[in-house]
Amino acid sequence: MPRFAIRFETARLEVLPWRTPGEDADLAGFLEVLLDDEVTRWLPRSWQGPFPRERTLRWIERRDAEGTILRVLAKDSREPVGLLTLYGSVCAEGSAELRIGYLLARAAWGRGLASELVEGLVAWCRAQCGPGRLVAHVTPANLASRRVLEKSGFRLVCEAGASAGAMIELELLLS
Ligand SMILES: CC(C)(COP(=O)(O)OP(=O)(O)OC[C@H]1O[C@@H](n2cnc3c(N)ncnc32)[C@H](O)[C@@H]1OP(=O)(O)O)[C@@H](O)C(=O)NCCC(=O)NCCS
Repeated sequence: MPRFAIRFETARLEVLPWRTPGEDADLAGFLEVLLDDEVTRWLPRSWQGPFPRERTLRWIERRDAEGTILRVLAKDSREPVGLLTLYGSVCAEGSAELRIGYLLARAAWGRGLASELVEGLVAWCRAQCGPGRLVAHVTPANLASRRVLEKSGFRLVCEAGASAGAMIELELLLS
């Protein structure tokens, strides 16, 4: 999967690649803060704990092979807030097709931060990419995530026929 040189800020958040040259980020420690059972409840099994160190290190390698993972930090304290994941291709020959995912530490919920994060990503894509689309897959019961996406301009592509346990797809067209 291609990796994207993407980095942006919002009013309260700094979003940067989870491996930054010259910076020895403690990724395992970062994940320990983020990945508890409540946070990963709606996520694929591979994201669900427990996360002893050895599994965490293997997990990081697998995620690295799949796509681009970004760390989300609080701009003022630089404390871990969450993760943003990007799969697909962006800015290739002027078009983008990008599947996004995100999670926030439990302590950060309910303050509008996920909405700020997704809006920041959409603004970055509108500024940097040509026409294309952003896609997100959401468990139907994850109403907070669906709301975050809809507030940022995503629209439901298809719900009909979704079987039990299936994800719904929301998209945002870039023009
Ligand atoms: C989903 C998640 C990212 C939301 O983060 P957050 O920072 O709390 O979200 P925000 O505060 O920006 O917005 C949440 C919105 O959903 C609404 N909401 C929250 N719980 C809700 C519920 N049970 N039903 C309906 N709406 C709900 C909030 O009221 C808010 O909307 P509003 O701004 O119109 O009031 C966060 O809970 C999380 O990380 N969850 C675990 C991982 C996950 O589910 N990731 C998404 C996978 S698709």
